[in-house]
This record gives sequence, C-alpha cells and structure tokens, in this order.
Amino acid sequence: MTRMLCTFATGALLLTAVSAGGQTPRTGAMMREKLTHAQKVLEALTTSNQSLLQSESAALERITQSPRWDELRMTELQGYTDAFLKAVHELNAAAERRDIDAAAVQYGNMTTACVRCHRRLKDLRIAR
Ligand code: HEC
Repeated sequence: MTRMLCTFATGALLLTAVSAGGQTPRTGAMMREKLTHAQKVLEALTTSNQSLLQSESAALERITQSPRWDELRMTELQGYTDAFLKAVHELNAAAERRDIDAAAVQYGNMTTACVRCHRRLKDLRIAR
C-alpha cells in the first residue's frame, strides 16, 4: 500500500513537471529567485530592517535589468512587464530613501503585478 502510494506520488510529480512545459529552465530559475527576494522584502518591511530592504530591493531590480528578463518581453505580456518593472523600480527608490511606508505600497503594487501577469499567462494557455 505504501509502495503504491509512493508510485502514485512520483507519477503525479512527473505529470506536474511535464505540464509545466512552455517555460524555459532559465525563466523558471529566475522566477524562483524573484520569489525568494520578494519574500525577503516582506521580511525586511515587517521588521523595519532597512539594510535588508535595500539589498533585496536592489537584487530584484538587478534581475529585471538582466538579459534573462528579456525572454519575457513577448508582446502579449509587455504591459504586464512594464507594470512590474515600474513597481520594482519605485520599490528600490523607496528603499534607498529608507521610506518603509512607500516601500510597503510599492511591494503591494509589485505583488499585484506578479499575480496579474501569471493570471494573464494562464488565460493565454487556456485560449490556445
Ligand atoms: C511579465 C510577466 C511576469 C511577471 C510580472 C512575473 N512572472 Fe513569474 N512567471 C512568468 C512566466 C512566463 C513564468 C513561466 C510560467 C510557465 O511557463 O508556466 C513564471 C513562473 C513563475 C514561477 C514558477 C517558477 C518555477 O519554478 O517553475 C514563480 C514561483 C514565479 N513566476 C514567481 C513570480 C514572482 C514572485 C513574481 C513577482 C515578484 C513574478 N513571478 C512576476 C511571468 C511573470
């Protein structure tokens, strides 16, 4: 029984891996990095840790300036990319001014941009 469950779990995992196709391994890794930095920004905001806020916001901005991000500049997603880039830029600027309140607002804008782009992606897939 345990063995059967185990086989089933492995099968389900494989299935998830295959159906996630369409994403390049580079995009996946970049998104994981973004998620980690975004989580750290939340930690910095909630503990008023200015230096962590600055380093994590700067790391996010660096990712958006790297060529890896260009792989996402498909016309269909351009508007979503722009909204995200703007929020990250403003977040970083607020962090540099050590303005926690403004940074919290931009953190919210950035998170909204993450979710909107992902929702759009999902809709595009369904439409195909
Ligand atoms: C402009 C569009 C866009 C924005 C903005 C965006 N993403 Fe993504 N994200 C993608 C695409 C494209 C993929 C690949 C998804 C796929 O092919 O299923 C992805 C995948 C991911 C994944 C899955 C990676 C994996 O391991 O498979 C995570 C986690 C993720 N994004 C987190 C984030 C976070 C956190 C943010 C905001 C800080 C964000 N994304 C903003 C487009 C975007």
